[in-house]
Amino acid sequence: SIPLFTTVAAFRQWREVARRDNKSVGFVPTMGALHDGHMSLVRRSLAENDLTVLSIFVNPAQFAPHEDLATYPRTLPRDLEILAAARVEAESGASVRSPSAVFLPSVQEMYPSGIHQDPAVQKGTFVEVKGYGDQMEGKSRPTFFRGVATVVTKLFNAIEPTNAYFGQKDIQQCLILKRLCRDTLLSHPDPAHLHIVPTARDPSDGLALSSRNAYLSEDGRKLAPTLYKALAAAQQSWNAGHPKSVCVEHARAVVEGAGAAVRLDYIELNDSDTLEPVPDAARRTEAVSKPVILSGAMWVGQTRLIDNIVLGDL
Ligand code: PAJ
Repeated sequence: SIPLFTTVAAFRQWREVARRDNKSVGFVPTMGALHDGHMSLVRRSLAENDLTVLSIFVNPAQFAPHEDLATYPRTLPRDLEILAAARVEAESGASVRSPSAVFLPSVQEMYPSGIHQDPAVQKGTFVEVKGYGDQMEGKSRPTFFRGVATVVTKLFNAIEPTNAYFGQKDIQQCLILKRLCRDTLLSHPDPAHLHIVPTARDPSDGLALSSRNAYLSEDGRKLAPTLYKALAAAQQSWNAGHPKSVCVEHARAVVEGAGAAVRLDYIELNDSDTLEPVPDAARRTEAVSKPVILSGAMWVGQTRLIDNIVLGDL
């Protein structure tokens, strides 16, 4: 079975050996409830690194008080079985690799100064990537990216990965973390070694795989691909040369057409560099030089789902 490390000190001993042996270390941070989206990151890391570490930590700092921290799916025994079964042929083809270590810290280990849902009593250190966490997801979840940037900084300091892997499913998270590595002059990982892996989808209907899909009822699951269909409609309009405002209306119509059980939170088109919304009148032709992020969030009952399509190449 895979070695588990619950403290930073114990993990650092393992890391020291890897360094001494000159082994590259790939890192996949997760909150557990593993699915094939997570595993596509693990497979990339296995293929590209001598050793692969995965972390499982449900990070309280990225949940607002009204959000689903208490009910977030926790499936540790199953997660460990899935990881133990993961195997990938090394790029050289010479060997078969599986995950080398799992980092499973406690809240106390990750937040030595404590963590509070109420910001008024919170003390200690937080990391904020200013100017990039207020749009898109940050508009609906104002403290979310502060929580993500804080925990990922800690994880990078603990793991010191050669390469780190994140999913395009959470595109804003990827871009913010790349900026965090650049702004803080991080070397482990170097910003160029923070990799964005394409979104894994259900092949039958395009639904982006997500731990939160576990919340969906049978009827909810049938409606969940509506978000991707709406994004695809907006993408088609964009490619046909319609202005942003029209693309967003087309997406909105798809969600409204699916009935009252789903509710759109937002659909936006943002500059992939500044993350600012592109102007309502912007069209594909004016944006050819820069990729645009088409993203959205939708409620299915009590479950909030997100997805995105990158228009152009990142
Ligand atoms: P979590 O939601 O568990 O996701 C862990 C990683 O898996 C993220 O990089 C996410 O983008 C990726 N992922 C999730 N679904 C995916 C899919 N369908 N296809 C490809 N990749 C997918 O994201 C987090 O955890 C947390 O914010 C974390 C980075 C661990 C910090 O707490």
